[in-house]
Amino acid sequence: MERVSLSDSVELSRIIYGMWRLADDTDTSTKHVQAKIEANLSQGITSMDQADIYGDYESEALFGKALAAAPHLKDQIEIISKCDIALVSDKYPDRRVKHYDTSSTYIVSQVETSLKLMDVEALDVLLLHRPDPLMDAGDTGRALDMLVEDGKVKTIGVSNFKPWDISLLQSRMSTPICTNQIEISLLAHEALTNGDLAFAQEHQIAPMAWSPLAGGSLFNGSNAKVQAALADMAEAHNCSTSQMAIAWLLAHPADILPVMGSNNLDRIAEFGGAMDISLSREDWFVLYEAALGQEVP
Ligand SMILES: NC(=O)c1ccc[n+]([C@@H]2O[C@H](COP(=O)([O-])OP(=O)(O)OC[C@H]3O[C@@H](n4cnc5c(N)ncnc54)[C@H](OP(=O)(O)O)[C@@H]3O)[C@@H](O)[C@H]2O)c1
Repeated sequence: MERVSLSDSVELSRIIYGMWRLADDTDTSTKHVQAKIEANLSQGITSMDQADIYGDYESEALFGKALAAAPHLKDQIEIISKCDIALVSDKYPDRRVKHYDTSSTYIVSQVETSLKLMDVEALDVLLLHRPDPLMDAGDTGRALDMLVEDGKVKTIGVSNFKPWDISLLQSRMSTPICTNQIEISLLAHEALTNGDLAFAQEHQIAPMAWSPLAGGSLFNGSNAKVQAALADMAEAHNCSTSQMAIAWLLAHPADILPVMGSNNLDRIAEFGGAMDISLSREDWFVLYEAALGQEVP
């Protein structure tokens, strides 16, 4: 598995495993969570994507329990986590509205909770989960720098940020913003043309793609053209349709890191195979045309 350097101290696997759906699995036992981690590790997928809010604030704790039961796994993985979304939840009975909070006090407190739940000394990557209209960039930037100085976080990134959001925050902090996790898939390909991937390449900000299989929508009835094109291309390359959908992202010159979300051990075992698929320019455009629903202008 290819490795991608985000900083002097952090390298990630090119394919990342996302834990948004961990608590939705019918089996949330420690043993099964470990089996999913190991199914990733056996392919060299070492980077695990978390967030404070995943599973209604339960996912980091589930992951933490699995790591506590098999502490040797901690040395083999990198942990990405996020904060700033505040959910209305039974866990916060006084909260009246879903909102964002990028205040220094909130960010530091959420990071400290994440470290405690997963029982690790530092997050490899901390992402601000969503741009916050009330972000005081000076306050937020100082808090992020401080988390790095204090050794609680190794690198800083963002998620769902537009180029102007990144520029503003970067102007108020010295730690380089090293990644932006955004939605990219054959069914959500706006980042290819709206400036998000162009900005990432210009500023050497590694783009992570969330929901690279469109959250499973690539496999249901409503996208017949894309499904047919994927199936044909997969057959021609002797691979599965999900591997082909990942390979389409990997072929982009921005060096996209797909963040995969399956809870199914057989599907997880297939992820790494996408790295071996080589798409020609025309193959890539066949899938892009299907995604656009028409030929390029
Ligand atoms: N930063 C953000 O704002 C943000 C937002 C969303 C997600 N994320 C991150 O991105 C990660 C991945 O997101 P995602 O889970 O939506 O990714 P995804 O890989 O696009 O979708 C995973 C879903 O697709 C289903 N699926 C996969 N292969 C399938 C197949 N061959 N047939 C039918 N269904 C199939 C999976 O079901 P099975 O479990 O049954 O395989 C699962 O429900 C998350 O875990 C999270 O870490 C970040």
